[in-house]
Amino acid sequence: MEQQKRYGHFDDQNREYVITNPQTPWPWINYLGNEDFFSLISNTAGGYSFYKDAKFRRITRYRYNNVPMDNGGRYFYIKDGDTVWNPGWKPCKTPLDFYECRHGMSYTRVTGRKNGVEASVLFFVPLKKWCEVQKLTLKNESSEVKQLKLFSFEEWCLWNAATDMENFQRNFSTGEVEIEGSTIYHKTEYRERRNHYAFYHVNAPIQGFDTDRETFVGLYNEFANPDAVMEGKPRNSHAHGWSPIASHYIEVTLQPGESKDFVFLLGYIENEQDEKFEAPQVINKKKAHALIAELDTTEKVDKAFAELCALWDNLLNIYKVKTGNDKLDRMVNIWNQYQCMVTFNFSRSASFFESGVGRGMGFRDSNQDLVGFVHQIPPRARQRIIDIASTQFPDGGCYHQYQPLTKRGNNDIGGGFNDDPCWLIFGTVAYIKETGDFSILDEMVPFDNQPGTEVTLFDHLKISMNHVIENLGPHMLPLIGRADWNDCLNLNCFSWDPNESFQTTENVSEGTKAESLMIAGLFVVTGKDYVALCKKIGKADEAERMQKAVDAMIEAVKKHGWDGEWYLRAYDFYGRKIGSNECDEAKIFIESQGWCTMAEIGAEDGLVAKSLDSCKKYLECEHGMVLNNPAFSKYIYEYGEISSYPEGYKENAGIFCHNNPWVIIGECLAGRGNDAWSHYAKILPSYVEEKYQTLHKVEPYVNCQMVAGKDAFKPGEGKNSWLTGTAAWMWYTVSEFILGIKPDYDGIRIDPCLPETATDYTVQRKFRDAEYEITIRPNGAQKGVKQVIVDGKPIDGTVIPYSPGKHVVEATM
Ligand code: BGC
Repeated sequence: MEQQKRYGHFDDQNREYVITNPQTPWPWINYLGNEDFFSLISNTAGGYSFYKDAKFRRITRYRYNNVPMDNGGRYFYIKDGDTVWNPGWKPCKTPLDFYECRHGMSYTRVTGRKNGVEASVLFFVPLKKWCEVQKLTLKNESSEVKQLKLFSFEEWCLWNAATDMENFQRNFSTGEVEIEGSTIYHKTEYRERRNHYAFYHVNAPIQGFDTDRETFVGLYNEFANPDAVMEGKPRNSHAHGWSPIASHYIEVTLQPGESKDFVFLLGYIENEQDEKFEAPQVINKKKAHALIAELDTTEKVDKAFAELCALWDNLLNIYKVKTGNDKLDRMVNIWNQYQCMVTFNFSRSASFFESGVGRGMGFRDSNQDLVGFVHQIPPRARQRIIDIASTQFPDGGCYHQYQPLTKRGNNDIGGGFNDDPCWLIFGTVAYIKETGDFSILDEMVPFDNQPGTEVTLFDHLKISMNHVIENLGPHMLPLIGRADWNDCLNLNCFSWDPNESFQTTENVSEGTKAESLMIAGLFVVTGKDYVALCKKIGKADEAERMQKAVDAMIEAVKKHGWDGEWYLRAYDFYGRKIGSNECDEAKIFIESQGWCTMAEIGAEDGLVAKSLDSCKKYLECEHGMVLNNPAFSKYIYEYGEISSYPEGYKENAGIFCHNNPWVIIGECLAGRGNDAWSHYAKILPSYVEEKYQTLHKVEPYVNCQMVAGKDAFKPGEGKNSWLTGTAAWMWYTVSEFILGIKPDYDGIRIDPCLPETATDYTVQRKFRDAEYEITIRPNGAQKGVKQVIVDGKPIDGTVIPYSPGKHVVEATM
């Protein structure tokens, strides 16, 4: 095996990933912000900020797909004599004497040292504030007095990131700024329909500034050698149109051993319509002044930072495991939960693979993401469920995505993805089990956000279920519609036109026989949940009605969905099998194995065990399980996008990490702990980190959406990191099915599924108003809890009945 270079390591004590070489195989990023104001930040301080919506309120500019990679960000230039350098190495790329980037929980600290000067910048977004703090500490570690010239740099973006990339004929003339003391205001388009502006401030007097990019950088220069910095002279430029920027210039003298802090603030302000201006053409800065005043000293900033850290202490104290296996513990206790929160915040909108322009919040995506953080912030999960349900149509169908700013369904992508409705049940049930809050079912929720159309959330669940059973195909299996979970299996699309999007082009639904076994399994899983919920709330008739539908679906799968060794994937438009031994390629797919084994369809006849064995035989490889096998080697007009990818990538036989946990849960339900664990460890970032930093390429502390599969040119190479449903599914799998701590309506069910080698472990679990310390003694068993003792007394069964207060639990397998 090729010797893999290492670029960093975990620091569990501080909950950080420490990057020690700036030239990572791909920018390794982190996210700042928790609610409204967000930033993406790479290990060299590249990236951008936005308010709520990366498309409509982009604050700073970023150029995706740039050469060199990851150019543009919040940069500090330090000119020390003739040497100009940046704490994060870029953009000057001056070799540093020391470099370190620490990505932590919603903060990043970048430190560089050069010629006896240390510059360390702490980046974070304070709780409930609309700004990014950049606390720069300059320290003279030499024995001479240092006269430094410090330049900050941010580049403004138009507020709509999409038009920033296309409407130059207008944009080059709209840019406007104001400068007041040490604050540079960006007010492009404020004179007309916008009531928001941004600012960049530093809590120290400045000796100059620049706001016009061309003047600062020089038209034929690069960020690596801006004219003003190279000459050590700001131009005091005032931008009119073209490309507005914000750069402060500060002269800093440091005695030997002396250090100084500078607090830079990148802020966003919204004003009332009638309070936009303080004088003709002069923006009302009242709120900006107030925000600045809240963070204008090191002490205030440190306090805000401590609050942020305390938030994460609390969030990560809700579920804590101690197994003695560091690689498992750090993912469960830190990174997996952190990624879940980030994914919940961003859905699939803004990463270094998602431009923030194209996609909003996914209906199915957000419901799944919810399972990853519902234990941490139930009220936000509640709101998210209502927001999502509000984009549903009266027939149970739904918009596939909605825009986070407006919460309106996204017309560009539309609806018709027939798995979507089921996910609302999945998300809602998870929420109620965690919180015991059944009142959410009585919330009045509109259709398509139209006032006056409100029905209860429970009715939304009901029509969601109905949507499946009202759209069955010739085998009594669910019609797939535009697509099911796999957006790229486009069975009703038939496109020969490269300019058409597979996702939005005309969906030929007339006469279609295209059915999905993935939706069938999903329907059975969520249908059982729905039935249990109905019984719980005294809707016996409705429970019975849906149980019949579930039973019928199970029969349909057994009759028309089994291929002999595994579950079929689908039927195509013409009613021909997909994912069958009869097919030339893609004989087996992972999605239907995952969902039908989770639904335990035909378990009594050995179907589940056979399907799981087939996953091992045909889908598994060194880096995880591929989506289908063998890969498609040519484009199939009847299947669409899935066959458009080269072998081993994305939906064509890539390891689409999102769906690996489905099979792992199937393994857990079947009690096959060894197999569950071996699948799980293959895609667990900490295991990958140890072996494959160079090959894997993307951040080693989080899951990525896709790892190149066994048919790819470079198996094991990761892509599309950070924003993926994998996070929530990994969490759900490990927390509930492997470690076996499962929230239920009346308490916590203990039902682990472990490898034989597992030793005793403890989980601290806060649950509603209770706190449990649960010790599990596996005794070499893979499954099956024999006895649960709560506060010294054995209980019947395996559900710890909920009661507020602290409890000690012991479970023996
Ligand atoms: C989308 C998911 C989809 C998956 C598989 C992801 O990019 O966000 O909604 O299920 O791809 O196609």
